[in-house]
Amino acid sequence: MPCPDTRSGARAITSLQNASIKAIRRLNMRKARRETGLFLAEGASVLMTARAAGWPPKSLVLLAGSAHQGANSELIAWARGQGADCLEVSAAVQGKLAAKDNPQSVLAVFEQRWMSTPDALAVPANALWLALEDVRDPGNLGTIIRTLDAVGASGAVLVGSTVDPFSREAVRASMGSIFNVPLVRLRKEAFLAWASRWPGEVVASALSAREDFRATPYQLPVLLMMGSEGAGLSAELAAVATRSVKIPMAGALDSLNLAVATALMLYEICRARLRL
Ligand SMILES: C[S@@+](CC[C@H](N)C(=O)[O-])C[C@H]1O[C@@H](n2cnc3c(N)ncnc32)[C@H](O)[C@@H]1O
Repeated sequence: MPCPDTRSGARAITSLQNASIKAIRRLNMRKARRETGLFLAEGASVLMTARAAGWPPKSLVLLAGSAHQGANSELIAWARGQGADCLEVSAAVQGKLAAKDNPQSVLAVFEQRWMSTPDALAVPANALWLALEDVRDPGNLGTIIRTLDAVGASGAVLVGSTVDPFSREAVRASMGSIFNVPLVRLRKEAFLAWASRWPGEVVASALSAREDFRATPYQLPVLLMMGSEGAGLSAELAAVATRSVKIPMAGALDSLNLAVATALMLYEICRARLRL
């Protein structure tokens, strides 16, 4: 049965059995994201970032009665202008679609974007790429994407079995930066071949290093490599580094959290060029 239109022009949906709602819910599963190439993002400010970055939504889902709240009317106008399917859903349906903690009244479906590997020999002189090997925690990945956005980095290469940056948790932790940071996905062998052609410094952030990460300024273009939460950087990746550095630690801990270590490294590399 076709859904009635609401005053906002969106289709009104109250059933969890609706085919569009079922398809959106399935995007919580990696398999569905892989098969469809789609992902979900929630919250008005995140969706405003998508709009500013030029990501047209495929669908926009709004809690019934919230069309005039905050930026929602602007988002509806944008989504309709982009030809998106606009749905106004009951609280029961929205409750199943939105995140459990801090649920939002609006969410949207987008197409994933993966960049092809840039030609290593042709990267701009001010390039700063981050390689992440086998990262496991989507919250860490999203936080790192947000930090890459903050420092104006060129992008991230997700190496090996690194988690899906388009998972709900990663997108959420990125706070909209998923729409601003170019992402490349490479198998380990392909990454090693690419990194070995890198025209500038290839920096490994590693606990085994002897050089303090603040010892000498970094010269762009830089390719920074960070290891996984568990195993750290593999021997193969460590071997392509032209420089290995360590962040000093005074306590009895083994290592810093990956996202924290990455933020420290990125800010140190960008020390000279980031100004208030
Ligand atoms: C949680 S740590 C991994 C710990 C792992 N057991 C190891 O031996 O590397 C995740 C990644 O963060 C970076 N990292 C964490 N603490 C660091 C430190 N003090 N100095 C340099 N890099 C660090 C490294 O790239 C590391 O591979």
